[in-house]
Amino acid sequence: MSKPPTILVFDSGLGGLTVLREIVMARPDAAYTYVADDAFFPYGHHTEDEIVARVVPLIGTLIARHQPDLVVIACNTASTLVMDHLRKAYSVPFVGTVPAIKPACASSRTKRVSVLGTRGTVKREYTKKLIADFAQGCEVTLVGAGNLAALAETALRGEAVSDGAVLAEIAPCFVDGDPRTDTVVLACTHYPLLLEQIRRIAPWPVDWIDPAPAIARRVENLLGHSATENIPSPAKFLFTSGNSPSPAFAMALRPFFGAQALDHA
Ligand code: DGL
Repeated sequence: MSKPPTILVFDSGLGGLTVLREIVMARPDAAYTYVADDAFFPYGHHTEDEIVARVVPLIGTLIARHQPDLVVIACNTASTLVMDHLRKAYSVPFVGTVPAIKPACASSRTKRVSVLGTRGTVKREYTKKLIADFAQGCEVTLVGAGNLAALAETALRGEAVSDGAVLAEIAPCFVDGDPRTDTVVLACTHYPLLLEQIRRIAPWPVDWIDPAPAIARRVENLLGHSATENIPSPAKFLFTSGNSPSPAFAMALRPFFGAQALDHA
């Protein structure tokens, strides 16, 4: 039986955990390393050049240190910029996370779709090209949220996030015309962390499109299905700042790793 793969999942912060939990469900046997670049968070506030200059060498260092069989860039703000650079620089297979505009536009009945991402993601040429290629007759509204990723991190750390603060970020997604918006792309991996609250306060019900299950399927296509029922050695969780999660925060992280123990030393 071949050795289970090592998968490195990377994000600017804690949002990539929403992608990781889907991958863990697909490949519970794999060895996981999750890296949160908290020292540079939030990516949405950095320029394109700054993100390329930060992420490309950092991923090289992480590959050398952790020897992954596959790297998932679980961050739209980075993936819409760095995937070509990474594939040119390193031979490990990469899976990126980019706005799910194609499936959203394919399933919208009113043909009015919004894309909710960081200010960086909604400005990208990459995102505009996805709309040009895959809007399929839909009117697409781009909404850049300035604080939603930080609010999602606050919520995951167990602190209260007011409905008003979240509503201010998501309200521009709701275009109340005839017809009105019926589908919103969650184009930042942090936002599913707030999905319960977002659904509860949304001006009207819409379909929220989270690409995480599709990313997990892509990983499974590349690596194959689980070959063993064994749960491997503890998953690793690392902050680039060198900080360690508090015991309470480590408890909040546990569910994302399924049955795997978590090593955050
Ligand atoms: N999680 C990241 C994304 O998917 C962005 C959050 C940030 O601004 O760092 O875009």
